[in-house]
Amino acid sequence: MNSKWGLIYRAHYWDDRRAKEQFKQFLISIHGLDLSLWDEEGYWDDEHYTAFSLFDGERIVATTNLFSMEMVVEGVPRRLGQFSGVGTAPEYRRRGINRWLTEQALESAGATHDGFFLFAEREAAPFYAKCGFVPVEETIPVVSVVAPTPVPGLRKLDPGNNGDLALLYRLAGERSPVSDLLGVWNAELLLFHCLYTLRDCLYYVSDLDVAVFFEVADGVLTVYDIVGRRVPSFAELHPFISGIPHHEVRFLYMPDKMGVDPPHWSSLEDSGLQVLPPLRLPEPQCLFPHVSRA
Ligand SMILES: CC(C)(COP(=O)(O)OP(=O)(O)OC[C@H]1O[C@@H](n2cnc3c(N)ncnc32)[C@H](O)[C@@H]1OP(=O)(O)O)[C@@H](O)C(=O)NCCC(=O)NCCS
Repeated sequence: MNSKWGLIYRAHYWDDRRAKEQFKQFLISIHGLDLSLWDEEGYWDDEHYTAFSLFDGERIVATTNLFSMEMVVEGVPRRLGQFSGVGTAPEYRRRGINRWLTEQALESAGATHDGFFLFAEREAAPFYAKCGFVPVEETIPVVSVVAPTPVPGLRKLDPGNNGDLALLYRLAGERSPVSDLLGVWNAELLLFHCLYTLRDCLYYVSDLDVAVFFEVADGVLTVYDIVGRRVPSFAELHPFISGIPHHEVRFLYMPDKMGVDPPHWSSLEDSGLQVLPPLRLPEPQCLFPHVSRA
C-alpha cells in the first residue's frame, strides 16, 4: 500500500486474470488500444511485458509498463526497456503518480537492462522530460530506384488465417535481426504488429523463406521488416516485391544488412523517440525498426 495516495501498488500481476482484464480496460480507456486480439491469439508476452500499476480497489488508476526488448545495438546484443501504454486516469493527474511509477519500474529493471527508451505522444513529452528522458531524432533511409521486372513467388498473408499466423510466428522465432545497427528479436511483439499495425502489409517469399512487410502508395515502396533466418540483399528481394510500380523505397529500419547505402535520410516526423541517458544509439543516423514499437 502506498500511503501517500491511499492506493495499492502492484507489478508483475498477469497471473491474476481480473487484474489483467482491468489493465486491458485501462489501456482502452486511456489509449483506445484493445490488446484482446493479441491476448486471444496467444501472443501476450508474460516474459517481456510488465505492468507497474496503482489500484484503487480493483480499478487501475495509473500504470507504466515496460517491454523488455531483445535488441542488437551496433553489433552488440542488448536488453533495452521500452516504456509503453503509460497513463494516469484524468482525476489523478499532476500529483507525481506516474513519475513515482516510472521510478519504481527503473529501480526494478535497472540491473537487468542496458538502457531505457520510449516513443512519446507530443503532449506527454514534458512529462518524460521531468522523468529524465531526452529526445533523439529518428531518420528514414530513402533510395530512388528503377523497379526491376517482377518475378512470381510472392504470397499475401492473412492475419485471420491460423496457418499464416503460425508461419509468421515460426519465422519470428528463427529470425535474424533485420539490422545489426539497431535490430530486434521479440517474436510476440512482432505478432502484435502483424495483428494490428501491419495487417494489410504481410507477404511471404517462399524462395527466400522470408516474410516481407511492405506497401506501395504514390509510387513509394515502404518496407517495414524482413523476417527470416537470413536477411536477403535488397537486390535479391526487390524483384519479388516489384509488382506495383514505384520509383522510391523507404525502409522503416536501418538497411545495413541489405547491401543498401542510402544517399538520403529524411527526418521521421513526430517519432517521439526519447532515451534515458546514458543510453547511446547509432549516430549520425538512428532508426528503431517499426516493429520494435510497443
Ligand atoms: C502523461 C501522463 C502519464 C502523466 O501522468 P501524471 O501522473 O499526471 O504525471 P506526474 O504527476 O507524475 O508528473 C510528473 C511531472 O511531469 C509534469 N507533467 C505531467 N504531465 C504533464 C504535461 N502533460 N505537460 C507538462 N508537464 C506535465 C508534472 O507537472 C510533474 O512536474 P513537477 O515535478 O514539476 O510537478 C498523464 O498525463 C496521461 O495519462 N496522459 C494521457 C496519456 C498519455 O499521454 N500517456 C503517455 C503516452 S506516450
